[in-house]
Amino acid sequence: MKKLYIGTNTKMYQGIAQTVAFLNELGALTKDIDRAEVELFVIPSYTALDAAGRAAQAQGIRLGAQNVAWEDEGQFTGEISAPMLLEVGAGIAEIGHSERRHILGETNDMENRKVHAALRHSMTALLCIGETKEQKLRGIANEILRIQLKEGLFEVCPKAAKDRLWIAYEPVWAIGLDGEPASATYAEEKHRVIRETLCELLGETVGNAVPILYGGSVNAQNAEALIVRPHIDGLFIGRSAWKAESFAAIIRTVLPLFQQK
Ligand code: PGA
Repeated sequence: MKKLYIGTNTKMYQGIAQTVAFLNELGALTKDIDRAEVELFVIPSYTALDAAGRAAQAQGIRLGAQNVAWEDEGQFTGEISAPMLLEVGAGIAEIGHSERRHILGETNDMENRKVHAALRHSMTALLCIGETKEQKLRGIANEILRIQLKEGLFEVCPKAAKDRLWIAYEPVWAIGLDGEPASATYAEEKHRVIRETLCELLGETVGNAVPILYGGSVNAQNAEALIVRPHIDGLFIGRSAWKAESFAAIIRTVLPLFQQK
């Protein structure tokens, strides 16, 4: 049976107590759901990671960090490395979220170095890609996605990527308060381009096994239409997942639909 990938990044919201309470509640609300069927993950703020690591483990929820340094240690003030993240139980490294690319100026080359750092330490690298509104209007979305994958995964070998690489397709124009969710048809089309590119880069076996998640204004209303599409392996949710009850409700709605496809 194919596994459903579903998780949230809480961005710069929720401190330690709130994160721990969220994880405990989410765990309790989903405890009857077999974790062999669902890869459930939460990516909280850095300061919450240590306490969250203990709560997440007890609840069968995987924990991730919102960023990772490309070096293991050194003169990099403000950066946090993969070994440091592993120490607090964060096994997933989110890399290249649109806010990091577009507000903090990260480039494909930086994301590539971070992917290598995460994989070198056997973390799961969750590489986020997506075109801007302007790129979409100019008709170059597919080219942009292919470049983000080719540069972001430069010199990543299939053996390193196997079971450790996830991709989140998050069109920049679909994310956040001003975002407009992509239609399921549009998202499916882009996931197809991503799948083809992954197969080109990593070979058919590994390329076809990399989970591709959709993110960008996912909510209780549009989750069903997205998850039934053949190339959508999971959902990466922001605002609509920040209350455990709403997140659990989305998981319960999409899981049976995902399993039927
Ligand atoms: P959103 O965030 O669901 O609130 O649009 C998605 C994201 O930033 O990953």
